[in-house]
Amino acid sequence: MNEIDFYDKVGKVNGWNFSELKCESEGVTWNFYEEVQARCNHSDILLDIGTGGGENALKIASSLCLLIGIDLSRGMVETAKSNLNHSGLSNVRFLQMSSENLQFPAEFFDLVSNQHAPFNPKEVANVLKKGGTFLTQQVSEGDKLNVKKAFGRGQSFAEKDGTLKERYIQELKDAGFSDIQVHDYDAIEYYQRPEDLIFLLQHTPIIPNFGQERSDLHILNNFIETNQTEKGICTNAKRFMIAAHL
Ligand SMILES: C[S@@+](CC[C@H](N)C(=O)[O-])C[C@H]1O[C@@H](n2cnc3c(N)ncnc32)[C@H](O)[C@@H]1O
Repeated sequence: MNEIDFYDKVGKVNGWNFSELKCESEGVTWNFYEEVQARCNHSDILLDIGTGGGENALKIASSLCLLIGIDLSRGMVETAKSNLNHSGLSNVRFLQMSSENLQFPAEFFDLVSNQHAPFNPKEVANVLKKGGTFLTQQVSEGDKLNVKKAFGRGQSFAEKDGTLKERYIQELKDAGFSDIQVHDYDAIEYYQRPEDLIFLLQHTPIIPNFGQERSDLHILNNFIETNQTEKGICTNAKRFMIAAHL
């Protein structure tokens, strides 16, 4: 199954909701949507690219004049619209759209945010106002390293850590962004119960086609046994964040 079909399937049933998952983290040095919110004014229009079920973006909508969330997956957008209906907010719209073709007027947005989804720096530069801010958080290649090593496969497993970050920094410069600030963390995560780790692996593309290979269950059991600690089943969450200005 390709990644967008996967997101479509997950989007319909779960959106991007991990709120029930029991996981303790040590070493997380920022919360992405709090960073976005800190840069928002009540007169601002924000575009959130790859918004999933809008779960995170909706939390900061009341700090804005207008929030527009886009996602390529129809299933995610359906869930985002349902989440919006339950929120009581009236200043939010969700649209099915690709990050590769942003169908908005030039210089329309004060801010553009993007967490764990692809973006196209030239497209962002076109729809962002001069003086506007773009903020992205991405999953580093070194994320969930012990899990990927155990399975012998995984998202960006073969790629050198830092590759995506360097590529995005260069592409942002080429698209006209300046004052580019970069932050990283590599946090420890403890999943409290096996079902928490299983939920994560079933609803994210960390291990592609998780559960479909004959040996997956055996590998998972071994992984849990080897990485079980008093605090939970141990792995890592490696992230980078880029703030860039036009
Ligand atoms: C890992 S989820 C992140 C959801 C949300 N940003 C969050 O962090 O809560 C990635 C999302 O990006 C969407 N996506 C993937 N490729 C995309 C593209 N080219 N344009 C827009 N959305 C895309 C997926 O459908 C999925 O909903």
